[in-house]
Amino acid sequence: MAKGVRMENIWKIFMPKVIALKNINVDIRPGEFFVILGPSGSGKTTLLRIIAGLEIPTRGRVVIGDQVVVDADKGVFVEPRDRNIGMVFQNWALYPHMTAYDNIAFPLRIKKLPREEIDKRVREVAEALGIAELLDRKPAHMSGGQQQRVAVARALVKQPDVLLLDEPFSNLDARIRVTAREFVKEIQKKLGITTILVTHDQADAFAVGDRVMVLRNGEMQQLGVPEELYGEPANVFIANFIGDPPMNIYKLSIDHPMVKQLGVLEEINEDYKEVYIGIRPDEAVALPLNEEGHLTGTVTIVEYVGSRRYAKLDLGNSISMRTLLECRADHGDKVRIRVYKLHIFAPDGKRIRTLTLVH
Ligand SMILES: Nc1ncnc2c1ncn2[C@@H]1O[C@H](COP(=O)(O)OP(=O)(O)O)[C@@H](O)[C@H]1O
Ligand SMILES: [Mg+2]
Repeated sequence: MAKGVRMENIWKIFMPKVIALKNINVDIRPGEFFVILGPSGSGKTTLLRIIAGLEIPTRGRVVIGDQVVVDADKGVFVEPRDRNIGMVFQNWALYPHMTAYDNIAFPLRIKKLPREEIDKRVREVAEALGIAELLDRKPAHMSGGQQQRVAVARALVKQPDVLLLDEPFSNLDARIRVTAREFVKEIQKKLGITTILVTHDQADAFAVGDRVMVLRNGEMQQLGVPEELYGEPANVFIANFIGDPPMNIYKLSIDHPMVKQLGVLEEINEDYKEVYIGIRPDEAVALPLNEEGHLTGTVTIVEYVGSRRYAKLDLGNSISMRTLLECRADHGDKVRIRVYKLHIFAPDGKRIRTLTLVH
């Protein structure tokens, strides 16, 4: 049976005064593929290390299945080796002088399992991960993708309750990365093992995550399925951080003409002097001037991204926007911009509303 992981009021303060985690509360379901996404320094590794028992929280508790593994307030602490957790570190940390076989067998030898049992388990996991033919090789004679599989095999061979992966794809180049993501996701679904993956890369997060929690400066910004983070960003930070190409975000005074043209005023009750307006490049299009739209702009750049064309437009008032280009317009041409959807954020950054302007 897969086990859930619950974190309650987790704080971590590194002396003298780095607040690495601020009151994290999250309930990870048994068998879930959970992703922690955030920029460098946001506290991701610290949180994983707290779950693994390699770090002790300053406050709060962690429950795995129905076992409290740490409770800082009550002084409860279960040693890492007694937590039955598999962890893959950012650099994979394979022993260079050992073969893949010995690397994978290592955690079982530490547990002093019988030789036959070790052999059976190593071969089983190697088979499952498609690396049976690599068992005699040392890391130097494997590709990055293969080394990564060996590292995952070593974490899984203990048959852990929870698998923790810290930036497992960051040492792989773009093409292998896609295969590696698919591989990790497939294995996770096949084994049904509760998995927590940490990454700074939204594409990684969205590719594998059932749910994604976004951290910034140790604080949870939003938690949801990928569609929620993309479609209803909780604040300007998330709006900026998620989506590629990034959302166009403007901080505008309430009497700015664009606020009026987009019908924003009717949608906010409070007396703000300024608001943020966000429009995703994929949720607006540039069309010929005679078409209906909300705004007018001049093309400054045209970019090709796969099958799509984006235009960067000058909207006047030193405001520019990037959006899909659905006409022949080129540098210097005037276009009409139809906005399908826009997000309104309060001056403190919190989302007020998401508006659909055109269906
Ligand atoms: N052992 C430590 N001592 C002091 N500060 C630390 C220690 N480990 C991490 N930090 C600080 O805690 C913050 C979060 O770090 P970390 O969890 O490694 O972030 P991430 O994995 O998201 O890049 C950073 O400001 C980092 O410098
Ligand atoms: Mg880290």
